Amino acid sequence: MRIYAIANQKGGVGKTCDTVNLSAALAERGQRVLAIDWDPQGHLTEAIGAQPAPSGSGAANLPRALLGEWRGELSDLVQQAAGGLYVVPTSDDMFLLEPLMYAKVGREFLLSRFLDALVDVFDAVVIDCPPSLGALNDSALVAARKRPAEDPVQGTILIPVQAEDSSIRALRLFLRQVTTLQDGLEVRFDIAGLVVNLYDPRKGRIATSTMEAFQNHPLGVLAVFKDLKEVRESWRLHTTVFDHAPDSEIAHGFRALANRLDPELAPAAAS
Ligand SMILES: Nc1ncnc2c1ncn2[C@@H]1O[C@H](COP(=O)(O)OP(=O)(O)OP(=O)(O)O)[C@@H](O)[C@H]1O
Ligand SMILES: [Mg+2]
Repeated sequence: MRIYAIANQKGGVGKTCDTVNLSAALAERGQRVLAIDWDPQGHLTEAIGAQPAPSGSGAANLPRALLGEWRGELSDLVQQAAGGLYVVPTSDDMFLLEPLMYAKVGREFLLSRFLDALVDVFDAVVIDCPPSLGALNDSALVAARKRPAEDPVQGTILIPVQAEDSSIRALRLFLRQVTTLQDGLEVRFDIAGLVVNLYDPRKGRIATSTMEAFQNHPLGVLAVFKDLKEVRESWRLHTTVFDHAPDSEIAHGFRALANRLDPELAPAAAS
C-alpha cells in the first residue's frame, strides 16, 4: 500500500483537485484507492459527491475513530464515490480534531497507525491535506513518510503549487516544516515533486518565471496542469475528470502523473 499526502499549506493551489483525480487515475489502473478528506473544509467530500459523516459524541467518523471514541467496522467510515473510488468523508467533528490532537502524546502518528492497518484492504491511500501547517498537516505527512524498503506500506508526498510569486515563499515554508518534522521525529520523507496547477502562460512573466523557478527547483516538476474547464465542470458534477471527460487533456495528464508515480503498474487498458 502506498500512502500519498497531497500537501501545501497555501490555499487554493489545487490539492483537492489533485487528490480526486490522482485517486481516479490510480483506480483506473485497477488499484483499490481510498481518498481521505483530511481538510475540515470538506471540499473533497463535496467535490466527489460523498455525504459528510455524522458528527457528535459516539458518531461513526474518522476523528472519533482516531481519538478512540468510536470503535466499529471500517466499512462504516468509508463510502463508495465516483469512479470506483472509496472515500473517508469529512464530518463536522473534523473541526474538533486538531485542537484535541494537541493534547495527545504521539499525535503525529495517529493517522499513520489508522492507515497502516488498511494495508490488506487498499493499494493506495491519497490524503487531501488542509491549507495550514498544524497538527493535521503534520500527521498526514508522517503517515506518508518514507519506510524501509521491505515495509508493505510506503509513503510519498506531492506538493501542488501555482505559478505565482507567493507560491515560492509558501514552498520554502512548507519545506522548512518538513525539515522540522524530519529532525524532531526522526522520520524521512520522499517528496516525489511539485505539481503545477492552474498554469496560464498568458498571465505573462510572473507565471512563466515562476514556472522556470519550479523547473529549476531540486524537487522537480512532476506535472503541469493548465487552467481547464473540465476540472471545474467535473467538480460541479461531483465527479472526477475521468468520469466527466475521459479523453480530455486533463484526464490524460493525470494518467501520465499516475504512470510516473507508479511506472511498474500496468495501465488497466493494457492488462
Ligand atoms: N487545472 C485546473 N483547471 C481549472 N480549475 C482548477 C484546476 N485545478 C484546480 N482548479 C480549481 O481551482 C480551485 C482551487 O482548487 P482546489 O480546491 O483543488 O485547491 P486546494 O489547494 O485544495 O484549496 P484549499 O487550500 O482551499 O483546500 C477549485 O475551484 C478547483 O476546481
Ligand atoms: Mg482543498
